[in-house]
Amino acid sequence: MKFHLCNEKVRTCLPKKGYIFLFLVVFIFILMLYITDILEFQIKVNTTFIIPRPATVTPPADMHYDFCKLKPLSTKEALEEQRLLDSIAWPETPSLPSPLSLSSTSHPAHSAFTILPRWGGGQWHIGDKLEVMIQMHDFQGHLKRSGGDVLLARLHNITLGAGVAGQVLDHLNGSYSAIFTLLWEGNAQVQVILVHPSEAVTELRRLNTEHPDRVFFKSQFQLGSVTETTTCNVCLRPTQQPVCNYTDLHTNEPWFCYKPKSLSCDTRISNFKGGYKQNISTMEKLFQSGVNLKVAIPPSGVASVNVLPKQNGESEVPSSRVGSGPSGYYFQGVWRRLGVTPIHQFNSSSAITQCLKGKTVHMYGDSTMRQWFEYLDAALPDLKAFNMHSQKTIGPLMSLDYKNNILVTYRTHGPPLRSASVPAIELHYIANELNEVPGGRDTVIVLGIWAHFGTFPIEFFIRRLQTIRRAMVRLLSRAPDTLIVIRTGNPKSLKTFLHASTNSDWYSLQQDKVLRDMFKELNVHLVDAWEMVVAHHLPHELHPQPSIIKNMINVLLSYICPQKGG
Ligand SMILES: *[C@@H]1O[C@H](CO)[C@@H](O)[C@H](O)[C@H]1NC(C)=O
Ligand SMILES: *[C@@H]1O[C@H](CO)[C@@H](O)[C@H](O)[C@H]1NC(C)=O
Ligand SMILES: *[C@@H]1O[C@H](CO)[C@@H](O)[C@H](O)[C@H]1NC(C)=O
Ligand SMILES: *[C@@H]1O[C@H](CO)[C@@H](O)[C@H](O)[C@H]1NC(C)=O
Ligand SMILES: *[C@@H]1O[C@H](CO)[C@@H](O)[C@H](O)[C@H]1NC(C)=O
Repeated sequence: MKFHLCNEKVRTCLPKKGYIFLFLVVFIFILMLYITDILEFQIKVNTTFIIPRPATVTPPADMHYDFCKLKPLSTKEALEEQRLLDSIAWPETPSLPSPLSLSSTSHPAHSAFTILPRWGGGQWHIGDKLEVMIQMHDFQGHLKRSGGDVLLARLHNITLGAGVAGQVLDHLNGSYSAIFTLLWEGNAQVQVILVHPSEAVTELRRLNTEHPDRVFFKSQFQLGSVTETTTCNVCLRPTQQPVCNYTDLHTNEPWFCYKPKSLSCDTRISNFKGGYKQNISTMEKLFQSGVNLKVAIPPSGVASVNVLPKQNGESEVPSSRVGSGPSGYYFQGVWRRLGVTPIHQFNSSSAITQCLKGKTVHMYGDSTMRQWFEYLDAALPDLKAFNMHSQKTIGPLMSLDYKNNILVTYRTHGPPLRSASVPAIELHYIANELNEVPGGRDTVIVLGIWAHFGTFPIEFFIRRLQTIRRAMVRLLSRAPDTLIVIRTGNPKSLKTFLHASTNSDWYSLQQDKVLRDMFKELNVHLVDAWEMVVAHHLPHELHPQPSIIKNMINVLLSYICPQKGG
C-alpha cells in the first residue's frame, strides 16, 4: 500500500527513535482525519454519490507510475493526497479472465431496479425520499455478488421539464440503492443507467497505471529551416533518448519532451495532441455501446410514482440511508438550487449586461469553460470579440463591451492539452495566471479544469488542483472580494472503447470528488455541472447543449449578482 511505501521511504532516512515518533505523529494525524471525516459525512451537502468505505481496496499499483514524474509534495500535501485517495477508493472490482468472457460480468439487460414502497406506507408527497433498489445480474442471469458497478440515476418528467439526480449507494453485494428527493407534483419516472460494469473499472484502473501515456502529445522544435518533432508527456517512458525538462519554475508543474536529435530544448515552438496508443487492451468487449456501456437498466415493475403536494408530519426515510441531498433540480427546464443562493433567470441580453456592468470576468480551463465564454459572446450584442489573432478553440480570447465596461477573457490551462497545434508559450498554468490578477469586488474568476486529465494517475490532477488552490488562497488574501466560481466536470457521451478509455465518466467522477473536496474550505462557489447534466433529459455530452449551458450561466450570474434578475 501507498502508505507503507511512504513510511518505508521515511524510515530509511530517520534513526529508529525518530521513526517511532514519526509513527505516533502520523497515527494521531490519521485518527484526527478519521474523526473529521465522520463529521463531514454528516454535514456535507454537495456530493452526488455516497459510496460506503469498502472493507478492502485495491492498493494503487504505484510501481507502474514510475515513469510519471509527478512533482514532489510537502508532508502536508502528501497527507492530503492520501486522504483524498482514501476518500475516492472504489470498491475492489473483479479481476479479469483472459481471454475475456462476458458471462460473469454485469449485464444491464438482465439486471433490474425496483421502486421500494414509501417508508411508513401511503402515497408519495413532495419532500419524501424515494428509494430504488437496483439488483445487478451477469450475462448468464446470475445474481452479482460484488459491487463497483458505475451507475447514474435520475428522476424525471419530460412534460414538466423536471429532473433531479439520484444518489447511488453501493451495498458491495451486487445491489445498489438510488435515493431521490421528490421535488415536484405529478408523475416522476425513474431512470437508471449502467455506465460501466465493475469489470470495466478494473480495466480502466489498469489502463491508468500501465498506460498513463496512452494519449500522447507532441512538440515541434524549430531553428531556421530545421524542424523536428518529438513526443511529450508527464509520463514519458525512459529510453536512450535524452529528455528536455519543461517543468514550470513557479508552480513546479512537470512536463517533458524527448530531446530532438539535432536541435536544443530551447527551440520548442508548439504543442499538440499526438494521438492515442493502440493495442493497449484485450478487454474492449467490456465497453460496448448498447450492451454494457451507458445502457439503461430496466424496471422490474412500475418505473414511476405519482407525487402529491407536500403533507405535514410526513414520515422520513431514516437519515442513515439518505445521506446528502441533491444540489438542485430542473422544473420547467429551469435549474433551481436547493439551499442558500436562489438562482435568478437572466433571460435577456440586457439583464446579463446589467449584471456584468463594470466587471472583469477571467475564465480559465478546458473547452467546457470556453463554451461559457462563447455563450456570453453570443448572448451579448454589445460584447465584441477583440481579435487576438489566436485560434478560436484555444485562445487566448477576449471580449469587450466598452459602453458598459465589461471585459471577458478566456485562456486554456497548461499541459496536458489534447488540442491542435498551439504555440508552446501560450500554454500557461492557471496558478500562474491567477498570480497576475489583482482581484477585487469587480473581478470574477471562473475555472473549469477536468476533461484532459482522465488518462493520468489521479495524483497528477490532485497536484494540479493543489497548485491552483495555493494561488487562489493568495488571491483571496490580497483581494478577499474577488468572486471565484468553479465549474465541475460532467458525464459525457461514451460510445466506444476509445471514448471510455480516454474520457470515461468513471475518471470524471473520481476527479469530481477530488475537486469538491479540494476547494470546500475556500470561499469559492461551484456550478454543479455534474448534476445539471445527470438531471437533464438531453443526452450526456462533453459540451452540454445550449439549454443546459444557459442554466449554468444563470447559476454563474446568480453568484455575481445575487439580488438582481427575475
Ligand atoms: C445487499 O445488501 C443490502 C444492504 O445491506 C441488503 O438490503 C440486500 O438484501 C443485500 N442483497 C443481497 C443479494 O444479499
Ligand atoms: C408528467 O406529469 C404530468 C402530471 O402528473 C403528467 O400528466 C404527464 O403525463 C407526465 N409526463 C410524463 C412524460 O411522465
Ligand atoms: C526538472 O526540472 C525541475 C526544475 O528545475 C527539477 O526540480 C526536476 O528535478 C527536474 N526533473 C527531472 C526529471 O530532471
Ligand atoms: C495490434 O492490433 C492489430 C489489429 O488488432 C494486430 O494485428 C497487431 O498484431 C497488434 N499489434 C501488437 C503489437 O499487439
Ligand atoms: C425566464 O425564462 C424562464 C424559462 O423560459 C421563465 O420561466 C421565466 O419566467 C423567465 N423570467 C423572466 C424574468 O423573464
